[in-house]
Amino acid sequence: MLKSRQRRRAVIAGVVTVATAALGIGLSTQFASAQTTLRGAADAIGKDIGVAVSYSQLMNNASYRNTVASEFNSLTAENAMKWDATEPSDGNYTFTQADAIVDFAEDNGQTVHGHTFVWHSQTPSWVQNLSGTALQTAMVDHINTVANRYEGRVDSWDVVNEVVSDSNGALRDSFWLQKLGEGYITTAFQTARAADPNADLYINDYSIEADNAKSDRIYTIAQGLKAQNLLDGVGFQSHLILGQVPSTMEANLQRFVDLGLKVRITELDIRLQTPADSAELAQQAADYQRVVEMCAELVDCTGVTVWGLRDGDSWVPSVFPGYGAPLLFNDDLSKKPAYTSTLNALGGDGTGNPTTTPATTDPATTTPPPTGSGCTAQLSVQSPWNTGATYSATVKANQALTGWKVTWTWPGSERISNAWSVTGTLTGATVNGANAAYNGTLAAGQSTTFGFNITKNDGSTASVPTVTCTPA
Ligand code: XIL
Repeated sequence: MLKSRQRRRAVIAGVVTVATAALGIGLSTQFASAQTTLRGAADAIGKDIGVAVSYSQLMNNASYRNTVASEFNSLTAENAMKWDATEPSDGNYTFTQADAIVDFAEDNGQTVHGHTFVWHSQTPSWVQNLSGTALQTAMVDHINTVANRYEGRVDSWDVVNEVVSDSNGALRDSFWLQKLGEGYITTAFQTARAADPNADLYINDYSIEADNAKSDRIYTIAQGLKAQNLLDGVGFQSHLILGQVPSTMEANLQRFVDLGLKVRITELDIRLQTPADSAELAQQAADYQRVVEMCAELVDCTGVTVWGLRDGDSWVPSVFPGYGAPLLFNDDLSKKPAYTSTLNALGGDGTGNPTTTPATTDPATTTPPPTGSGCTAQLSVQSPWNTGATYSATVKANQALTGWKVTWTWPGSERISNAWSVTGTLTGATVNGANAAYNGTLAAGQSTTFGFNITKNDGSTASVPTVTCTPA
């Protein structure tokens, strides 16, 4: 059975792609003002826009936290779920950091893409010193313990990471391969599948964005795992270099989709030689736009995760000397050109101007906003099924707001089971909702979205009650 959030994503993605293809442009709805955050735009087209987060920044830096919450609908722990962080010594698990990240995601209605169970790097020496049955047992125990802990809370996992080498598509000559033989890959997936049957399982790697020997090898492995129903998706890390989005990337993603798999851009960054000039930042924006558009246009691409929030958070300068500035935000959290192009690629409005309140319109020729109502809100059913449905809701500000409240009463058996980007008393016949911490402040004409799932009696039609919206 699919979890509700996966169901939402799958169904919405299908609907939207049809609409996007037919119009040749981004979404247009009754509330046509374009989305002005990455998160709003990605929500509207049913995609994940994710960010790799650092535990210490999330704990200690309020502006980092606020931006992660308002701009992204999916999180990956940059380091906190790796083996060295979760089981530094045999059988001693430490989940403080990983728990905090998953809690944050849950509080903010964000999905979690888990990273990673089996990797040759950031794996403690006690593991690397094992061999034979002891090593295999350690791997199985580790996967079971971590997957069980986050069952139902982590949506998808990078089960194995970087198992193919850079030369000729051979398997990476890691301690895993040397000591367990190539069967370790299948064992890892079998263990993960049994531990959390509802999570999507991914194989993740770098330099597989193009059609090349390395992606050919991933393709062969993926085919074998898919045939055993052990694999759901392929993660393309996409640590790219300025001006070098591979020309075969789109066709390459498609061939994996044609195997019946999901694809995901899992660790996107686009590095350049620092310091960056404006031409390079414009090129970077164009590169980001290409990659994000590729995913937006491909129904089975679940989303894009950028590998860090601000340029200063990136791993790039320490690993590729002389390179840097590969992300969407500057260190002061101002937005780079690549932010704007990414927003546009998701169907949002990257001009930064709310489309419904042009600043220079002649007052005599415009209809004034409805008086007596600081905001309006509307529900729409995104995907109904027999005993439930996923809804999206749009709140539109008719004046500048610092908070909003919404209320409605269900006419029938509908009741909210879980919700995102909205707070309040939500589960009764009468719903009393309010903005989340990050989506209460709206300029006049601006909109924001929230969403929820309901349960209902079998077969009844999911109703669309009228919502009363008031400024708070
Ligand atoms: C990197 C992190 O960003 C760094 O903070 C850490 O020191 C090393 O690992 N491929 C992966 C990621 O799968 O886990 C790596 O993350 C980047 C390359």
